[in-house]
Amino acid sequence: MFKGRDIISIKDFSKEEILHILDVAEEMFPIAEGRKKSNLLNGYIMGSLFFEPSTRTRLSFEAAMKRLGGDVIGFAMPTTTSIQKGETLADTIRTAESYCDVIVMRHPKEGSARMAAEFAKVPIINGGDGAGHHPTQCLLDLFTIRREKGQIEGNKIALLGDLKYGRTVHSLAYALALFKVEMVFISPPELQMPKEVVEECREMGAKITIKNELNGLEDIDVLYVTRIQKERFPDPEEYKKVAGSYRIDLKTLEKAKDDMIVMHPLPRVDEISPEVDKTKHAAYFRQTFNGVPVRMALLALVLGVVE
Ligand code: CP
Repeated sequence: MFKGRDIISIKDFSKEEILHILDVAEEMFPIAEGRKKSNLLNGYIMGSLFFEPSTRTRLSFEAAMKRLGGDVIGFAMPTTTSIQKGETLADTIRTAESYCDVIVMRHPKEGSARMAAEFAKVPIINGGDGAGHHPTQCLLDLFTIRREKGQIEGNKIALLGDLKYGRTVHSLAYALALFKVEMVFISPPELQMPKEVVEECREMGAKITIKNELNGLEDIDVLYVTRIQKERFPDPEEYKKVAGSYRIDLKTLEKAKDDMIVMHPLPRVDEISPEVDKTKHAAYFRQTFNGVPVRMALLALVLGVVE
């Protein structure tokens, strides 16, 4: 079902396939924690090609591969490669695939992962392509919600911040619609969720409320906060108008349900006050860790080592 498959967009997967990935990730959990040893991917090499900055995606993929006994080659700075001499993405991919069994890539250009998959014979895993997709983040977000809340269905989930440029929230909204959850989209008017995403999610059966004010958190089960991404704004003046629009602090959380969790794909800038880190609501560092078992599951599945 998964052997040899590219992981480009969450839309390429059915609900059943997503649940299967989450189940495999659950089995990987003790290995990710280092409590159980594994040589499942011994002899396999992962190419880690990062054309754009990353901390979590790159390090958790590398940790996932190494915890499963595999090896990693690659780069985190394209300036150290022949891309500097004008080599194309297609040639870089064709070269890298001759040295490894699976490629994880992040690239600033939307559509680049899909294009790479057309050239490559080895599976391509999209670690984020510009404002496009970030399917592995979406899967680890779903995994986190299921682990923290027991199930995905039945939760009321608020997505807050930059819903226009945030690739993680586009993928997540779509995936949550598969589970027919109720969603609230909160953003400045300039950064609203694209209309086509809203319409598609509604057509799939999701109940959606759209608003600009950060209030009414009393019945929210999951508050998913995003950074307003300076690097995605074509005009820096437009960024200045919306920077710092929302900040989650202890006061914001006063009226929240006792078991409401706060998630964030990270990195954060100032949208969650550090004082929130010690509260029972803060789930974002556990969410970050969950990238390891989920990415282990994906690597093992596309390499055909588990089914
Ligand atoms: N969440 C996420 O993609 O983080 P990085 O940009 O650090 O990889």
